[in-house]
Amino acid sequence: MQLIKLSATDSTNAYLKDLMFNNILGDFTVVMAHSQLKGRGQMGTNWLSEPGKNLTFSVLVKSLDSPVSEQFLLNIYVSLAIYDSLTQLNVPDLKIKWPNDIMSGHSKICGILIENILSGHHIQASIIGIGLNVNQLTFNNLPNVSSLKLLLGKTLDLDELLTSIVENLKKLLGNPSKGGHNRPFELYESRLFRKDKPSTFKNQDDEMFMGFIKGVSSAGKLKILMEDNIMKEFNLKEV
Ligand code: BTN
Repeated sequence: MQLIKLSATDSTNAYLKDLMFNNILGDFTVVMAHSQLKGRGQMGTNWLSEPGKNLTFSVLVKSLDSPVSEQFLLNIYVSLAIYDSLTQLNVPDLKIKWPNDIMSGHSKICGILIENILSGHHIQASIIGIGLNVNQLTFNNLPNVSSLKLLLGKTLDLDELLTSIVENLKKLLGNPSKGGHNRPFELYESRLFRKDKPSTFKNQDDEMFMGFIKGVSSAGKLKILMEDNIMKEFNLKEV
């Protein structure tokens, strides 16, 4: 594993994106930072993490060579790889909150931000950014956020955890069945947060509605069974 360790950078995703255009980085280059000054979250949010306590890293994947239409599959593999590493640590009640947050019970412990570099209809490279709350103990009173130390009651080694996640990811991307997952799509769906439970959602107009999460479409949209018994598909901006 080619590992670049930084004491501080704006964002490990941005760092890899800048470097990748020089074409000097190999497949599965990993950049990890002790602290990020402008950590990026999904949908333009910030990712905050106490310096040195957690994992904030990005992995460059150049070998996928898949069409844009299949880009959601990478979300699935990344979620499953992290899920597997956390299962090995006995983290309780793990779930994947669509599209790819990792939850323990009702608390988020990990966020994923995948940025794809496209060439026409092909994914030329993907930058997989992972923020995993490991040894941080307080979260500014943010609701529904936790860390592995809070859940397991012990300090964890960041390097070991990083290696475990990257190795699982390599296995899954190289050969899903070798990674123990012949049916990644079904496995991802079976691990979805609040699957089959009545849940409330908010649409783009801030209106609430009720439905049951049933799964995801091949394009990565969330399938919700509505109160009138009709199945609808939503993307991230819609729900
Ligand atoms: C989310 O909003 O849940 C996604 C958070 C992703 C955070 C990680 S930390 C490492 C990488 N670099 C970034 O700037 N963001 C991702």
